[in-house]
Amino acid sequence: MDKLVIRGGTPLSGKVRVSGSKNGALPILFATLLAEDPVVLRNVPRLVDIRTTQRMLQELDVQITDEKDALKFVTPAEGTYTASYQLVRRMRASVSALGPLLARRGRARVSLPGGCAIGQRPIDLHLKGIRALGAEIQIRHGYVEATARQLRGTTIYLSGPFGSTVLGTANVMLAATRAKGVTVIDGAACEPEIVALAQFLRVLGVPIEGEGTHCLRIQGVDRVGGGEFTIPPDRIEAGTYVIAGAMAGGNVAVEACAPGHLRALIDVLQRAEVPLEIGEDFIHVHGTPAIRPVELATLPYPGFPTDLQAQLMALLCRANGVSLITEKVYPDRFMHVAELNRLGAQIRKEGSTAIILGGHRLSGADVMASDLRASACLVLAALIADGETEIHRIYHLDRGYVRMEEKLAGLGADIRREDDEEGV
Ligand code: EPU
Repeated sequence: MDKLVIRGGTPLSGKVRVSGSKNGALPILFATLLAEDPVVLRNVPRLVDIRTTQRMLQELDVQITDEKDALKFVTPAEGTYTASYQLVRRMRASVSALGPLLARRGRARVSLPGGCAIGQRPIDLHLKGIRALGAEIQIRHGYVEATARQLRGTTIYLSGPFGSTVLGTANVMLAATRAKGVTVIDGAACEPEIVALAQFLRVLGVPIEGEGTHCLRIQGVDRVGGGEFTIPPDRIEAGTYVIAGAMAGGNVAVEACAPGHLRALIDVLQRAEVPLEIGEDFIHVHGTPAIRPVELATLPYPGFPTDLQAQLMALLCRANGVSLITEKVYPDRFMHVAELNRLGAQIRKEGSTAIILGGHRLSGADVMASDLRASACLVLAALIADGETEIHRIYHLDRGYVRMEEKLAGLGADIRREDDEEGV
């Protein structure tokens, strides 16, 4: 197991290029199960979660060829319909295999994902949507077992107690591609990752309307074809480097990103008086000694993304005053609070709100990464902490950030990856 060793205090400056979107790519990879002709995907980020998905698709008899700058997928109609616990437990997004397997092979058996560091993550809305399309679903021996001779289009309300569901919307969209007639998903997620999935499905010949709104309309087809598609940039990776620049710049240019997907972050940073220049596909951020405290809540898109909450909290440790962050998507997603406090931050949790008393100097310590975004938050905090920080269990980071230590070193950070001999 690896750890990161970071010596804080070096200002960041230079350019960093954003990779393809992890959360955009995952449902698109699962969508290749539907395609009757070859699919070529470009700008797929080379991450652990993507490799896990490739392995799962291969177990489902998809042939994948790595063509260096692209991945090619060929999927036979007949084949395995079981996604096993061994792979599903590593990545909750695997539940997105349910909709396309059922639509293509008439049958799907997908392990229920297990617990998760960021809180409860039920899949009731996924199942509600797929049942509404006419599937028979049973939960047996830790697996969701779904069958349907012919799915039928219908109108489905898919929002839940925490708003819309991203992967739930993706799963129902994928199942609906081969349903008879039209499916309308009301209360659909309108995240850029869902927009990308809709654009991809249109390339495969599925008529879809309404992406980017809360109402999606999918016309089922008899045959889903193939085609080529480029994965859009990762908005969370981009946001993480923008926050890094705000904390420890310098002058950082985040390139090849989509600033239009980051409006909520840009608004928060402007309220915090972080100097920004925004172009069509770049954000330049200038470090500033004075960060104003802010109040915000995470919300489904276009609200402030929960996936940037931890990183923003690291920034607000530097603000000159008290900031409040309320987590409305995953009310328990605060594992990073205790670790930030180990670095000298002063953060108190009241229910699903974190109260951040800014302006206390951080000092390097040993800390433990608990999930992907919490790990990124600790990396950012370490960049401004006095002395050395060792971040253990960074395998979480490799699930979602392409060569993060190399990208940060390119900006001048004193950061290195080492074998974690203690194995913690
Ligand atoms: N929810 C339900 N029932 C469901 C599904 C979701 O109650 O059937 C609740 C969840 O518990 C949560 C809320 O609805 O409170 C939103 O969850 P959502 O389903 O939108 O999350 P997801 O689709 O499982 C994706 C991302 C997450 C990101 C969330 C929210 C992928 C692979 N994952 O998860 O990304 O936090 O949307 O934006 O796209 C990450 O990248 O670090 C990550 C966790």
